Amino acid sequence: MKNEKIILQQEDIPKRYYNIAPDLPEPMSPPLNPETKLAIGPEDLAPLFPMELIRQEVSNNRYIDIPETVRQIYSRFRPTPIYRAHRLEKLLKTGAKIFYKYEGVSPSGSHKTNTAIPQAYYNHKEGIEKIVTETGAGQWGTALSYATSFFDIALEVFMVGISYRTKPHRKTMMQLFNSNTVVHSSPSNLTKFGSEILKNNPDHPGSLGIAIGEAIERAVGDRAKYALGSVLNHVLIHQSVIGEEAIVQMNSIDTNPDIIIACVGGGSNFAGLSYPFIREKIKHNSDTRFIAVESSAAPKMTRGEIVYDFGDSAKMTPLLKMHSIGSNFVPPPVHAGGLRYHGIAPSLSVLLKHNIVEAVSFNQLDIFNAAQLFIRAEGIVPAPESAHAIAQAITEAKKIPIDEDKTILFNLSGHGYLDLLGYDEFLSGSLTNDAAKQSNMNRSMKQIIKVQN
Ligand SMILES: Cc1ncc(COP(=O)(O)O)c(C=O)c1O
Repeated sequence: MKNEKIILQQEDIPKRYYNIAPDLPEPMSPPLNPETKLAIGPEDLAPLFPMELIRQEVSNNRYIDIPETVRQIYSRFRPTPIYRAHRLEKLLKTGAKIFYKYEGVSPSGSHKTNTAIPQAYYNHKEGIEKIVTETGAGQWGTALSYATSFFDIALEVFMVGISYRTKPHRKTMMQLFNSNTVVHSSPSNLTKFGSEILKNNPDHPGSLGIAIGEAIERAVGDRAKYALGSVLNHVLIHQSVIGEEAIVQMNSIDTNPDIIIACVGGGSNFAGLSYPFIREKIKHNSDTRFIAVESSAAPKMTRGEIVYDFGDSAKMTPLLKMHSIGSNFVPPPVHAGGLRYHGIAPSLSVLLKHNIVEAVSFNQLDIFNAAQLFIRAEGIVPAPESAHAIAQAITEAKKIPIDEDKTILFNLSGHGYLDLLGYDEFLSGSLTNDAAKQSNMNRSMKQIIKVQN
């Protein structure tokens, strides 16, 4: 029988998170206070996050212990399987062996649960009773509602308007996991920032940048804490469980991936899979390639610039040094809501700058076509975000002749069973290709604060 699946046991759940900070080719530039342009300190983040997460955010330690309570909850769905895509390989007539790590087996349906659980845990340990957050397509909000339910924490979620309308069952799921959850469509009239946007455009589709701004305004006003599902170092650190498991899984079949691929919204599932492999690449000087895949609706890696920019559109966060297309930019309303973000994690920016990571982008029709092929071959409906990784895996596999031996590993970051409206549009032929307009990006980039450094 062919080996379809590589699984690990409960005791193989990693005991430590990996932090890439000490292994980067140059240190990340510190986040800045937008007014003074000086580096912020832990005290600036204290109103937003519990102290342990702030410590992780600024940590230069290579490893951080995973609390036993968190490992215990992880054990309900981790270690996650790696599948070999035999049928897809055959369809593509490629010599590539294609593997994917499937994070869609988590209760909320994506990798976001990997950071939601420790974030809820550390908030609970520091006595926090309410968290406010944003969510794009709803995957992060769902993961956090699942995680907060373990610790009796109330949750308030600002969900990007266009996703709130097209993925209504995400709200249902959030309220089912944690009955103490409220979900608002963003922009909303609940915040000053949201009301101003709605005044000018009552049908505004929203964006992750806007939803983050609303959630922070609300969290600060409410003396609750705020939580973010991507971009920040501590989030990427938590996601390293994906790559640590994958290394053990690939070693168990004596295979080292030649190409590692994942999609990028803010960079957390990409970092989760790839950073532990980048550590190994640096150690063993291997020539593994790492490919980060974005949506052409928010092409920050392929068409953006490395600048100091806000993490949100309300300009409430510190300035982060990252690839950006401007925090005011509102990406076209594609179905991959989790990729509609203007910036990326600062560590990923450093790796792109040093050509350790390559970047590509895909438009909406290409990723749905790739997803269709994948579904027929593999029987799993991917989230539109994850379909970006599939599209690039297929592109790479097609370049590998049948008599060549190469291994591709990609991250299937989540399932798409609550994204069926997008699939309906695809099947009926009404799906459009909404790429970012250069003139809109230029306008947004003009508003970026200039920082001398
Ligand atoms: C399934 C899925 N994959 C990927 C992403 C992108 O986020 P990140 O880059 O943080 O992994 C999201 C974001 O919501 C998502 O829901």
